[in-house]
Amino acid sequence: MKVFITRKLVGKAEQMLKANGIQVKTFPEDRAISRAELLKNIKDADGIISMFTEKIDKKVIDNLERCKIIANCAVGFNNIDVRYANEKNIAVTNTPEILTDATADLTVALVLACARRLREGERMMRKNEWTGWKPQQLLGLEMKNKTVGIVGAGRIGYAVAKRMKSFGTKIIYFDRKNNLKFEKEFSAKRFSLSALLRRADIVSVHLPLDKKTLHILNKDNLKQMKKNSVIVNTSRGEIIEEKSLIQLLKKKKIFAAGFDVYEGEPVINPELRKLDNVFLLPHIGSATVETRSAMAELCAKNIIKVLSGRKPVTPVYVR
Ligand code: GLV
Repeated sequence: MKVFITRKLVGKAEQMLKANGIQVKTFPEDRAISRAELLKNIKDADGIISMFTEKIDKKVIDNLERCKIIANCAVGFNNIDVRYANEKNIAVTNTPEILTDATADLTVALVLACARRLREGERMMRKNEWTGWKPQQLLGLEMKNKTVGIVGAGRIGYAVAKRMKSFGTKIIYFDRKNNLKFEKEFSAKRFSLSALLRRADIVSVHLPLDKKTLHILNKDNLKQMKKNSVIVNTSRGEIIEEKSLIQLLKKKKIFAAGFDVYEGEPVINPELRKLDNVFLLPHIGSATVETRSAMAELCAKNIIKVLSGRKPVTPVYVR
């Protein structure tokens, strides 16, 4: 059996596969694999470990001659045509749960960085522009008594709400369905997206990307946000219509925005770099030693299961 891994992984995933008699080939370069390289390398693979940076569409799937499983090393799987893969009897798996805490921690870091203007403060220190303490210097926003709007009350949304609640905030949420556990735990009420945006001081986005959530935050509803509000996105860039958010930030119609993900990443809108009221991170939500190792190892477990005729641990299906 052969497995192709599109990017060098962290942890023991490769050893786990090899210990199960699986031949492993890893793309050797430290960059995203090109489509041509992907097509060439996966042809005779029995399993693939892919990253969310590779588009695995019908054409790629049609190119697979013996593949039984595509193990995506991410919780999001919008890069894969899951329905088509399943039709071809190829299992698709993701890495839920294990990255929830790391992503929630980073989300809170972004919220605080935006609310307390950490970027401006840090820049001032590095540029040797600090002339001393001033009562009115870099005034930010406090968390206590603020309303946090969680957009997408799944696992990560829940973990963010738990952290934010400990700051003395009130939690509200938007989701397709009522989440009773979420409501009970945080005394949280569900609102429509527009109603949430009108009420929240902090908006945190945790939806999976699909046809229904693409640009779900857009020109029409973003403008309803409060003047002193903060929005952060650690899910997928395409959920927010970035151009419209940039306009609001430019005109200071909202306080700040924190980005870990971007539309069209890794290329980012150059306007973003010019703004003082944004905090920009390079898609590092799950980037801890512990989490990235666990993600890779879960991919290996899924592959081992499927290639030995068993069910995968964390399969995904189209909703
Ligand atoms: C990363 O963005 C992931 O979906 O795990």
